[in-house]
Amino acid sequence: MSLRITVIGTGYLGATHAACMAELGFEVLGLDTDPKKVEQLSAGILPFHEPGLPELLKKHTTTGRLRFTTSYEEAGAWGDVHFIAVGTPQKAGDHAADMTYVDNATTALAANITKNALIVGKSTVPVGTARRLQELVKSVAKTSVNVELLWNPEFLREGFAVHDTLTPDRLVVGGGTVEAVATLRRVYASALSLDTPFITTDLETAELVKVAANAFLATKISFINAFAEVTEHAGGDIRVLADAIGLDKRIGRRFLNAGVGFGGGCLPKDIRALQARVSELGLDRTMRFLSEVDEINLRRRERVVHLATEILGELDGRTIAVLGVAFKPNSDDVRDSPALDVAAQLYNAGADVSIYDPEAMNNARARFPRLNYADSMDDALRGSHLTILLTEWEEFTSLVPQQLEALVESNSIIDGRNVLDPQTWTERGWRFESLGRRSESVLISSSQ
Ligand code: UDX
Repeated sequence: MSLRITVIGTGYLGATHAACMAELGFEVLGLDTDPKKVEQLSAGILPFHEPGLPELLKKHTTTGRLRFTTSYEEAGAWGDVHFIAVGTPQKAGDHAADMTYVDNATTALAANITKNALIVGKSTVPVGTARRLQELVKSVAKTSVNVELLWNPEFLREGFAVHDTLTPDRLVVGGGTVEAVATLRRVYASALSLDTPFITTDLETAELVKVAANAFLATKISFINAFAEVTEHAGGDIRVLADAIGLDKRIGRRFLNAGVGFGGGCLPKDIRALQARVSELGLDRTMRFLSEVDEINLRRRERVVHLATEILGELDGRTIAVLGVAFKPNSDDVRDSPALDVAAQLYNAGADVSIYDPEAMNNARARFPRLNYADSMDDALRGSHLTILLTEWEEFTSLVPQQLEALVESNSIIDGRNVLDPQTWTERGWRFESLGRRSESVLISSSQ
């Protein structure tokens, strides 16, 4: 018999998982406590930007294979495998993760399950959560049914969420009886047929795999950004440095792009929550290096503001065009976005900031309504004394000076993502600044 799948929480992770499960042929019910979201998704409307996902949502809501509800009663009675995909945001005023949504979702679901079922946690949680939830499920589930809890962390990247869900590079499953794991193998049969590694382990390891991966990625980015600070002072070109060390297969070139740093809904909050959790375990020093990782990352934003001040003399009354406010390209997400943070800091320092982003304008406006949001890139650039590229959308990485010259007031640019060719700009007489590449070293390296 075909498995019926529910997905509790329909944010970036849940909506993607639900649509992809439908694409794999399962009947899927997505649950969210927000009736507006449920209404939109049911109508086939995706409330955020994610390439490839609107098509899947439309396709499967049309056939009825993918439905959405606000009812735990319905989900609990219907599903065989329930995925928990609610958020674990950073607590206000604290580094720890807010577990309210996970706890509430698990309690409500378990209490409403009326047939034998699996609860599979996907959310990123502090180590120890799954074992605690197991007890919670035991205490609220009906005694007439057998409900098992497993942990199956999700590694999807925004912008590649559909690809990462349908063809993950690994599957990790913590806990569960042999039968429960076998059921999950049925869910992931398509990926397994492609020889995707399937790692079975205990609950704690599964939880830790996720935070360890994100902590490693954040550390890698801050590592290269720390060297960018060095090359800014000592001379040198951070891109060449990254290329050269990246050729060592033990290091690898990916996630060594120096720039304005990492943001988004995962990396920043996950490294903070990990430190908080490990401190709770009495290991105050163990993850202390992650505070440095966090600080290096935040200093990159200050560096951009510093460079802007250096170029303009003062920020008050100067017009700055900010290209990109999403935390990365192919996303409309501005959560902890370095780009939006820099834009806000420039505004707070008195600059007249004009923003353009292909997708993230509405989310940015909701967060910082007082910044200027231009209708087009040209509008953002018109009359600006300085241009700052902060998210490497393709339409920005392909920019050439001639495109800007008829619009801007002054030929000055900061490349906050190290994606433009410095020589092209400096040869046209532009003042070109980037992160981790001093102008003179850039000229030497690019003329070689
Ligand atoms: C991340 C993890 O990659 C993913 O596995 C996990 O499931 C969720 O968190 P995501 O937040 O979508 O995914 O973004 P990611 O592609 O990892 O980028 C994170 C941030 O790091 C972005 O702001 C990006 O611009 C920045 N970054 C990335 C760099 O500054 N330099 C790099 O070399 C790579």
